[in-house]
Amino acid sequence: MNGRGDYCKALSIRVNSATLGQIEENYGKYRMKSIIIVVCFVFAVFSAVVTAAGITEKGPAEITLDGGSKGTVDFPHQKHQNTLGDCKICHDIFPQKLGVIEALKEEGKLEKKQVMNNCRKCHRNLVKEGKKAGPTSCTKCHSK
Ligand code: HEC
Ligand code: HEC
Ligand code: HEC
Repeated sequence: MNGRGDYCKALSIRVNSATLGQIEENYGKYRMKSIIIVVCFVFAVFSAVVTAAGITEKGPAEITLDGGSKGTVDFPHQKHQNTLGDCKICHDIFPQKLGVIEALKEEGKLEKKQVMNNCRKCHRNLVKEGKKAGPTSCTKCHSK
């Protein structure tokens, strides 16, 4: 993505650096610039659509969450994606955006510990069923 964007930028800078006179004289170059602009625009729209549809964006493999007075919580995001398969288990509660849990808590749209209780409930149920689970005790999740 970035690589492609930089490429577009580099190309347009190169075309821009031609003098106006040259561009006027050289219609080919002007057309070239138009083509680059169109290609970059189409590419930008395409990436926006892909991102909006959540087709390729899986987010970071590891996320550090804010755990308030109990310190941070290390959350292995990718491991959960692979083990659980279903994004909705978590992202029905909050959208796919870093920092969104704390933002929604501040706006009063999420209860404090609401997400945490979802984490713990699942881990607890799995422990009860004798399955492989994540931590259920405070200090196994929280740094303090
Ligand atoms: C077990 C819970 C859980 C599951 C399942 C889960 N996520 Fe997430 N995801 C999170 C948390 C927590 C965050 C970070 C929220 C925050 O920082 O407030 C997050 C953040 C994200 C982000 C934001 C990245 C960014 O840079 O802003 C994306 C994208 C994302 N998840 C995609 C997915 C996709 C796709 C799936 C399914 C394949 C998935 N997640 C499954 C918990 C989960
Ligand atoms: C499975 C991991 C996990 C376990 C176990 C866990 N927490 Fe949390 N805790 C979190 C996460 C994630 C958050 C941030 C999201 C939220 O507030 O729902 C959090 C948030 C918190 C907060 C901050 C709430 C706020 O916004 O003020 C406190 C305090 C807290 N936990 C205390 C505890 C205590 C006490 C225990 C043990 C009884 C515990 N946690 C067990 C993951 C966990
Ligand atoms: C729907 C069930 C479910 C939810 C929700 C869930 N987890 Fe887990 N978690 C698991 C399972 C299953 C494992 C064991 C994965 C494995 O070892 O392959 C696990 C493992 C973990 C581990 C240990 C990973 C390791 O490498 O040993 C941590 C830490 C963890 N979860 C934190 C969280 C936090 C924090 C949340 C909430 C933001 C959360 N989990 C939400 C099912 C869940």
